[in-house]
Amino acid sequence: MGELINHFFKADLIVMTSPAYVFHVTGAMKALLDHFAYRWMPHRPAPEMFGKRAVIITQCLGSGAKSAAKDIKHSLSWWGISEIGIFTGALMGDIVWEKAIPKETRRAYGKDSKSYPKVCTYGLHKIRTHNLITKIKFFFCRMIQKSIHRSDPEHLDGKYWAEQGWLADSRPWK
Ligand SMILES: Cc1cc2nc3c(=O)[nH]c(=O)nc-3n(C[C@H](O)[C@H](O)[C@H](O)COP(=O)(O)O)c2cc1C
Repeated sequence: MGELINHFFKADLIVMTSPAYVFHVTGAMKALLDHFAYRWMPHRPAPEMFGKRAVIITQCLGSGAKSAAKDIKHSLSWWGISEIGIFTGALMGDIVWEKAIPKETRRAYGKDSKSYPKVCTYGLHKIRTHNLITKIKFFFCRMIQKSIHRSDPEHLDGKYWAEQGWLADSRPWK
């Protein structure tokens, strides 16, 4: 997991994919997400995650791709990621690239989607933002950690928040 999390930290864009198995992610994907439970915001979120963007691609034959994508999005958003794009479909052919590609890129490269650079499928030129929901979640967790840390300074999660400076003025998006 240590190696994996380092890859996450280094990545400019995190891409998570899974087919839908009975309307949810595969067991393998769920196991991966479970291993990162300790990185959820109410525990010890990684500051590196707050500036990241992610794309989730799920696939199914009938229905369930959207709920499978939600499984992943739920975790990613609680890791602190604000910008999460979702693509679902039965086949690659179902993905309407023209819709996925941001207007600015479409303008720059014209109507012929074949001429788009391969990396432009999700607004990579976009300036990073931290949305309000992430901030609200953060402040809610901070309130809890503050009270935990006050009553037990040795509590692992509270100690981590204090060490990051988040119980004082520091914020992961600064
Ligand atoms: C255990 C299992 C559960 C599945 N559940 C769903 C489902 O709920 N909805 C759906 O549309 N497809 C379902 N599928 C189909 C997959 O989402 C997917 O389309 C298919 O497995 C991909 O082809 P592959 O197995 O050859 O990789 C399921 C497949 C498996 C093996």
